[in-house]
Amino acid sequence: MRICMISSEFAPFAKAGGLGDAVSALAAELHRGGHELRIFVPRYSSIDPEAAGMVPVDFLQDISLATGAFGLQYSMYTAPQQNGLWVHFIDCPILYDRPGLYTSDSDEHLRFIMLSRGALECCQRMGWSPDIVQCHDWQSALVPLYLKSLYAWDSLFANTRTVFSIHNLGYQGGFQAGILPATGLSAYRDLLHQDDLNAGAINFLRHGIIYADALTTVSPTYAREICTPEYGMGMDDLLRQRHESLFGILNGVDYETWSPEKDPLIPFRYSRSNLRGKAANKARLQEQLGLRQDPDTPLAGIVSRLVAQKGFSLAYEALPRLLADGRLQLAVLGSGESRYEEFFTWLQHEFPGRAAFWRGFNNPLAHLIEAGSDMFLMPSLYEPCGLNQMYSLRYGTVPVVRKTGGLADTVTPHTRDDGNGIVFEHADQTGFGWAMDTAVELYGQRERWNRLIANGMRQDFSWEKQAGAYVTLFRHLAETSTA
Ligand code: ADP
Ligand code: GLC
Repeated sequence: MRICMISSEFAPFAKAGGLGDAVSALAAELHRGGHELRIFVPRYSSIDPEAAGMVPVDFLQDISLATGAFGLQYSMYTAPQQNGLWVHFIDCPILYDRPGLYTSDSDEHLRFIMLSRGALECCQRMGWSPDIVQCHDWQSALVPLYLKSLYAWDSLFANTRTVFSIHNLGYQGGFQAGILPATGLSAYRDLLHQDDLNAGAINFLRHGIIYADALTTVSPTYAREICTPEYGMGMDDLLRQRHESLFGILNGVDYETWSPEKDPLIPFRYSRSNLRGKAANKARLQEQLGLRQDPDTPLAGIVSRLVAQKGFSLAYEALPRLLADGRLQLAVLGSGESRYEEFFTWLQHEFPGRAAFWRGFNNPLAHLIEAGSDMFLMPSLYEPCGLNQMYSLRYGTVPVVRKTGGLADTVTPHTRDDGNGIVFEHADQTGFGWAMDTAVELYGQRERWNRLIANGMRQDFSWEKQAGAYVTLFRHLAETSTA
């Protein structure tokens, strides 16, 4: 099948969280399966064109895109990947030459209208007719509507079916209705969500949900959760209406990048049958972060965007208590909202040698924390899938998670014979406190702890398994298009 993917992230070029990993690994797996892929991502200024091996596409230079009052110009670059996959970069410096992938600038909508329309118009100029266009998150959520309106005249897309993949319902791309001309959809006003428009708003994500031929999200449990008011973030009504077209497909793990046997970013490799390297990584992590060299105290790791979703407010009581008692060490990597950064900074000052906080984005350190920690903390309030708990399982780092979304689908409670982690249910400090006390206690019972580690390291969440579900869905959609 010819599959077009449009995404704001694609690892290793552009990654703010799991989206970059997930899209890139899914694309690689589909490509391996013999499908023809074209991937469109913004050419952010943080991408080094030489390292990426980027070359201009001659016949796709200085193209004009009319978006309301603004005329924008863009060009296309492309880069072959080691695995033979080609990635296409939409180059538009005026929009993408910014410090981060995402901004709160007043033209944020334009940045992703450009991505969405640029991708479709490049398909037109290349004469390439995709069977499937897969849009990821709000940034490309207008694409299904574009294909049913602005680009409906083009027979190139006559058999194209759209899939909107929701990686996180918490980010919706909500803007003032005044941006309507910039979308290019003024003539199709009637197709936009009228209640929103009347309230002076346009929500990109909502149009993805309404107009895509099929919807996916990144775990079966999250697919159920988002149909409820508690997790639906204002979209549950609509999602319930479309629940027959909504599929929960668990993300996979790229074990070429994330496994302790092969990981080039960790100093000591190890495997299920020989965990000695894990202890050496722990010592290295302690040394690197200024933690006391102590093989016997459990070391808990966190690698995360520091935002409300991730639930660190549940840790305000338990972490200081266990650190004060000398029963825990803590290694935290991440950045985000100041309240969480301040909390972890405070822990580091309050408990020198026991708690360390590295603020920022640091991929090698992320790998070392996975390898060198004994347990990994994800007390998320909601978690569409979560990748770090799956990485942790493979690294023999016992996940401590809240029972929600993909965490519930991948971590099995320690009380079961096949248990691989500690799972708590209630999103409050008591729930997390219980989970941490349980983890620290189990760590002291070597045999039980080792069983958790062994059960976790045995799990297989490879994309090879997961991508099959997308292929089945894509084929089904493609068949209905020619029927
Ligand atoms: P989310 O997509 O919600 O951020 P996931 O668990 O799906 O959560 O994916 C997070 C990914 O981002 C992981 O690969 C993790 O290692 C990475 N990551 C998050 N924060 C950082 C950071 N500060 N430095 C390096 N990698 C990070
Ligand atoms: C999102 C979610 C995360 C998921 C990732 C990749 O950012 O927060 O749970 O794993 O996307 O799908």
